[in-house]
Amino acid sequence: MMTEESPGNQFQQLGGEAAVRGLVERFYELVEADADLRPVYPEDLSPGKEKLALFLIQWLGGPPAYSQVYGHPRLRRRHFPFVISELHAGRWLRHMRQAMKDEGWDAAFISTLYGNLAPLAHHMVNANDDVPREPLDNVRLT
Ligand code: HEM
Repeated sequence: MMTEESPGNQFQQLGGEAAVRGLVERFYELVEADADLRPVYPEDLSPGKEKLALFLIQWLGGPPAYSQVYGHPRLRRRHFPFVISELHAGRWLRHMRQAMKDEGWDAAFISTLYGNLAPLAHHMVNANDDVPREPLDNVRLT
């Protein structure tokens, strides 16, 4: 049963770091092709791609790769410089689910992950909020 497995085990089963990096590559291809979502991202997609990979490695039960470099994720705060609407959250989730399918991840596992990612994505919506929009520039947050 999945609940009896350690998260690390689950991370190895899905294919470890290589699988997560493959997922992020595919996800970013879908973002790049999305005329509504692409403008939310900076021109150079590579730094964000690397950060998302490090974060997901950690989130999926692998080594704490993201926090070793950037500290506490504080994801909502880190997204303030980017104006994110409900439409963007929906697209982000759709592309993430599609990327998991395209990478051949197990369907039941995708459903579980999607269920966990959906509230997180909607929590990132800030388009109508009066939040500081200044770039955070890789600051280490606690
Ligand atoms: C709701 C829709 C979302 C949009 C439109 C969005 C967009 C973005 C953008 C534009 C960046 C900056 C990329 C860069 O600096 O090059 C970013 C960073 C990031 N996003 Fe998202 N994101 C969304 C949801 C999420 C979710 C649900 C997660 C986690 C599962 C996530 C994880 C991250 C991480 C870890 C970073 C790097 C943060 C940093 O260290 O600066 N994002 N996102």
